[in-house]
Amino acid sequence: MPGLLLGDVFPDFEAETTTGKIKLHEFLGDSWGILFSHPRDYTPVCTTELGRAARLSSEFSKRGVKMIALSVDCLEDHHGWSKDIVAYNCEESACCSLPFPIIADGKRELAVALGMLDPDEKDKDGMPLTARCVFIIGPDKKLKLSVLYPATTGRNFDEILRVVDSLQLTAGKRVATPVDWKSGECVMVPPSMSEEEAASLFPAGVYSKDLPSGKKYLRYTPHPGAQRESTDAEHSVVYSKLTLCPNALKF
Ligand code: BEZ
Repeated sequence: MPGLLLGDVFPDFEAETTTGKIKLHEFLGDSWGILFSHPRDYTPVCTTELGRAARLSSEFSKRGVKMIALSVDCLEDHHGWSKDIVAYNCEESACCSLPFPIIADGKRELAVALGMLDPDEKDKDGMPLTARCVFIIGPDKKLKLSVLYPATTGRNFDEILRVVDSLQLTAGKRVATPVDWKSGECVMVPPSMSEEEAASLFPAGVYSKDLPSGKKYLRYTPHPGAQRESTDAEHSVVYSKLTLCPNALKF
């Protein structure tokens, strides 16, 4: 049975959190959202993960992304553990509070409904714990990305930010981002776009790599945020930035 699929409207659940009761869609408003689960409060990997998520919270808010965490622990544990996470992040533990709420899903209702459980990790009563799930939800409340890590593998929140940059860029522009792409680097022209359309949509130039097949499908263009018709004088600057598009030639 498939769970939530990309493009599905994310369930508008109600939940108890460390900042009070929320309804997800109302909580998100017009923002993007990231809902991320962890197995258990007061555990080492989870502490490092939520600490990193807290340190990156200003980067998420710069991108208009509201964060919310979830585990099967109770509110009292969430509140107590939040202080440990803050202390893990800073020397003076009184310096700040956790910048996002944590959902208390003690009855595992959301964990089951959203397919977040890790069957290999159980609590002392033999009940499965939440895995390390990440859902990214768009301003239209639709699911844009989901990843599920087992309890024993901590996530990379820099990678999640990188993914947000790609999701937000490709939501508004007809481009795709290549392997290891970072914001500002060249993007790829989708295979369905004709050469004529690409030339008119990307005035800064489209560059393709010659391949043994002779097919020109490996097409790069500068980051669309930097797209405008380049003058001859600027062209060399644009071209030098295209070192990120290896062996690419303008056609
Ligand atoms: C941890 O957060 O350290 C952890 C939690 C559950 C299983 C393994 C590790």
